[in-house]
Amino acid sequence: MNENNKYILEAENINKHFEGLHIIKDVSLKIKSGEFVVIHGKSGSGKTTLLSLLSGLEKADTGSIILNKNNINNQTEEELAKTRRQQFGFVFQSFNLLSNLTAIENVMLPLLPITKDISNLKNSSLDIMKYIGIDHRKDHLPSKLSGGEKQRVAISRALINNPQILFADEPTGNLDSTTGKAVIDLFLRLKNERKLTIILVTHDQEIVKLADSVIEIKDGEIVC
Ligand SMILES: Nc1ncnc2c1ncn2[C@@H]1O[C@H](COP(=O)(O)OP(=O)(O)OP(=O)(O)O)[C@@H](O)[C@H]1O
Ligand SMILES: [Mg+2]
Repeated sequence: MNENNKYILEAENINKHFEGLHIIKDVSLKIKSGEFVVIHGKSGSGKTTLLSLLSGLEKADTGSIILNKNNINNQTEEELAKTRRQQFGFVFQSFNLLSNLTAIENVMLPLLPITKDISNLKNSSLDIMKYIGIDHRKDHLPSKLSGGEKQRVAISRALINNPQILFADEPTGNLDSTTGKAVIDLFLRLKNERKLTIILVTHDQEIVKLADSVIEIKDGEIVC
């Protein structure tokens, strides 16, 4: 790889305001392909907002978000939805599983609207669930799963589109420390075995220690 293509995602001077408050302040950063990147900072510092801008869930007021040389901050809502659907996976603290769908149906869900071959989608969902170690719970409803199991289903769902980048916002925030560690081990395995780029928000200093690079944010600004 040469210098020009080793960055998968770059933010250039991005700003975001909410209700007249300057929340993200002229942030620039570069994320290398295949890295485990941790964003950390105090509550209210802007971590979730920054992650939302980098992943196209929200638009920056000014600045650019460059994904593989394309500025996704210029994309229409429709184009952005396609970018997210094709290139990104998302994992959240609160799992965000649909309660009336089984584990495997939750994993299939992101591709269900665009798939032509449901049995093929079911097979690939099951393969991912096996890889993540949650296939034995495939027919359970979320209410019958433990927190760690729910997060494994959510991670399987995030991988169904074979994303380039996995975004995770406090993915261990609702888990006890042992279960949380197992989830982080899983992210590290995905990085090592699948060369996935992972951008993860956390408060946890133990996770910060495992990062390839750390982005520290304070009052909406990068401090290191
Ligand atoms: N949609 C919104 N409308 C108004 N203000 C918002 C919105 N989203 C975030 N903010 C404000 O932006 C600031 C940063 O919020 P953000 O959720 O990014 O912080 P955070 O670092 O993720 O905090 P936490 O660790 O508690 O999750 C906060 O002051 C918050 O109130
Ligand atoms: Mg947050």
